[in-house]
Amino acid sequence: MKSGTTIYLYELAWILPSIALPVGMLVALAVTAFGAGIHLPSDAGRVDPTRVTEQPPFDRLGVRHVAPGQYEVSMLAQVWAFGPGEIRVPAGSTVHFRVTSKDVVHGFWIPRANVNVMVLPGQIAHVEARFERPGEYPIICHEYCGIAHHVMSGKVIVEPRS
Ligand code: CUA
Repeated sequence: MKSGTTIYLYELAWILPSIALPVGMLVALAVTAFGAGIHLPSDAGRVDPTRVTEQPPFDRLGVRHVAPGQYEVSMLAQVWAFGPGEIRVPAGSTVHFRVTSKDVVHGFWIPRANVNVMVLPGQIAHVEARFERPGEYPIICHEYCGIAHHVMSGKVIVEPRS
């Protein structure tokens, strides 16, 4: 037979972690969001999917050098390719991707660069990544978008700094 004190300690052993856990998660959330600046890829605006190539920034697809070490990429996803299929930036660059879809839902995943967004027609996805090391970074569509979904890919080529 357990004494009253033992039961109280067991209760405490459950109650304290169940308070500490959500408090810890909230602190982790605040630190990552406000301290480390980590946040979800944002909705950077809307665009008419039927006239997407007439509207900036998708009237000029590809890479733009915007500041030292900073590049902007506007990219269009459609069945079953990314346009442009290949982009080149020098090592040590921060790349701001603006991606939208012309037709159905696609994915925009760069596994080696921690980029993972859904690409919805009519919506502009904005995501940024830093490319430190030279090499090839595959871009993969990871939302099922039709019969040739599995071949829909592109790449970021990071060139050594000259
Ligand atoms: Cu595009 Cu799957």
